[in-house]
Amino acid sequence: MPNNFVTAWHTLVTDLGISLSWPKPEASTEQGGEKDKAIMIWGGSSSCGQYALQILRYYDYRNIIATASPRNFELVKECGANHVVDYGSKTFKEETENAVGKVELVLDCIGSLEGSVRPITSIVGEGAKVAILLPVIVRDATEEVEPIYEMDVRKAATWPAGVEVRGVRTHFYLDVSICSVTLSDTFKYSIELEAMG
Ligand SMILES: NC(=O)c1ccc[n+]([C@@H]2O[C@H](COP(=O)([O-])OP(=O)(O)OC[C@H]3O[C@@H](n4cnc5c(N)ncnc54)[C@H](OP(=O)(O)O)[C@@H]3O)[C@@H](O)[C@H]2O)c1
Repeated sequence: MPNNFVTAWHTLVTDLGISLSWPKPEASTEQGGEKDKAIMIWGGSSSCGQYALQILRYYDYRNIIATASPRNFELVKECGANHVVDYGSKTFKEETENAVGKVELVLDCIGSLEGSVRPITSIVGEGAKVAILLPVIVRDATEEVEPIYEMDVRKAATWPAGVEVRGVRTHFYLDVSICSVTLSDTFKYSIELEAMG
């Protein structure tokens, strides 16, 4: 099973509290319920982002917004994003609010201080949950300078009050028995193939 599929699955369940039970329950048509939560996948065209979108689509989530460059808009929509916003747009905050309302859950598949983390602080508020794939890249390496990384996601930026922020490492899933069990069960049922259509 691809490492980034495991990362996406584990993070959605463990860090963002999304229920991905198996067997998959009947699709709910209840409006305003769990399936209508506003979920942002930052870096929807990254490999982790594409897996997260496909998993959410498979579980019938229908208020998902992904960030991507315009050249990848169609790709992320095909993966399951209901809305797409260009993270390079000066009005991405307004575009996000107009599309999904108040963002409740964020999976940051990029973990770049200026490229994702700081912009995310501007769109979340009280009650939101944010999961960031570690490390947070504070400064990229160049020929002249070493990279700078931050592992403490709360220290990496100033977060609005009431936002729950968690840093993610793929191997954490091995510590969480329920997740290991869920993943091995789902592997048995080839959910990866089903979820990826
Ligand atoms: N901690 C963990 O457990 C864990 C696990 C897996 C991966 N990671 C980390 O996650 C990062 C992504 O890994 P990956 O393999 O999924 O990457 P990837 O597939 O190489 O993703 C690259 C894509 O990310 C998009 N991107 C770049 N900068 C962006 C930004 N500022 N905002 C939004 N999208 C941006 C670009 O898409 P566009 O062309 O659409 O701009 C680019 O095509 C890496 O830093 C990796 O180390 C961490």
